[in-house]
Amino acid sequence: MEQVNINQDRLWNTIMELGTIGKTENNGVTRLSLSEEDLQARKYIIDLMKEAGLEVRVDEVGNIIGKLVGMDDELPVVLTGSHIDTVVDGGMFDGALGVLGGIEALRTIKESGVTLNHSIEIVSFTDEEGARFGSGFIGSKGMTGELEEKYFSLTDKNGVSYEKAFENANLDFTNFSLAKRTKESIKAYVELHIEQGRVLEMEDLPVGIVTEVQGPAWMDVHIKGQADHAGATPIDLRKDASLAAAEIMLLVEEIAVKWQGVATVGQMEFKPGNANIIPESVHFSVDFRHTNKQKRDYMEHDILNALQEITKKRNVDFSTSIQMKVDPMKCSSNIVREIEQSCRETKLPVFKMKCGAGHDAQILGKITDFGMIFIRSKDGLSHNPQEWSSKEDCAKGTQVLCHTLVRLAK
Ligand code: GLV
Ligand code: MN
Ligand code: MN
Repeated sequence: MEQVNINQDRLWNTIMELGTIGKTENNGVTRLSLSEEDLQARKYIIDLMKEAGLEVRVDEVGNIIGKLVGMDDELPVVLTGSHIDTVVDGGMFDGALGVLGGIEALRTIKESGVTLNHSIEIVSFTDEEGARFGSGFIGSKGMTGELEEKYFSLTDKNGVSYEKAFENANLDFTNFSLAKRTKESIKAYVELHIEQGRVLEMEDLPVGIVTEVQGPAWMDVHIKGQADHAGATPIDLRKDASLAAAEIMLLVEEIAVKWQGVATVGQMEFKPGNANIIPESVHFSVDFRHTNKQKRDYMEHDILNALQEITKKRNVDFSTSIQMKVDPMKCSSNIVREIEQSCRETKLPVFKMKCGAGHDAQILGKITDFGMIFIRSKDGLSHNPQEWSSKEDCAKGTQVLCHTLVRLAK
């Protein structure tokens, strides 16, 4: 295939512009799903898609979809996409690159006059991160039919429900099941994303091809002890929820090492939360992930055993619930081959790698062939204001995406 050249400056300008929406004092970005900042960013994306000459619509779960109509719109559509919501004080590239790179790729294809049989859609998925309501992949799950009504009663830390947040965004969740797409209507899904790790930088490579995506799971843990006087209660008579939580935290790390997975306690809240009160309860999250589903199950089993053992020893109680669990997925070999071919066409080395983070791609992967293109992350940092990828690497990844989409839609 002849090279179709994306516009590097135009792409970079959009990344920089979107990065100003929700910018924090640390130069990070906070655009929690359906917050005022996210709504402003959503408008930016809709305008950009229109400017690119795409047909734009918003589906029943709030996914923003820009379509480049092919010669035969009855054929299954080729999808690309990512998200524009962020974690608290996240970076400018996580998710944003895939959405803006996708729009740039479709705009380039349209301008180049290349004729395609299949239509291509770029999707900006609603709430990938789950950072506001505690459960992510809402837009992609809506598209695969995995979403359930119960998600809409989740609340954020200010008590605002998902339902209310939808209403505030002029969206109506009641028809969420209509966002579901059939397997037959989608040919493939390809997502461009920053790596968020150090592999490409260590290999001195701009672009990587993902072969498998790790499966994230979030456990919510409550430890219940007894509040008591911090000065007057002897150590051996305490039911200190915080010490149980501390022991469990260390065991969570040991369990991750044992199974060669990863695990993180990223949130913890003590109640009542006073310096001179022995904590009555501790509420914390455990994010645990593995590329092997069975090994992730073993991790979960070990974490539950650790909870049982430690709470018994410390005379406190516990309860848990799984907030989110997404299967690890292997990318489709045919899509990996198309991306490989696109790397060759764009004169980039072919390098295959695993993916640590969670992505809408692994949700779409349940109903269609899927693949992912990674670009180098500076110092491997992500979910951090210092997250950075160079202008050139963003362009290279988008170039590979563009070729892959053309190959799939021909
Ligand atoms: C999403 O960024 C995740 O992997 O948590
Ligand atoms: Mn993220
Ligand atoms: Mn992301």
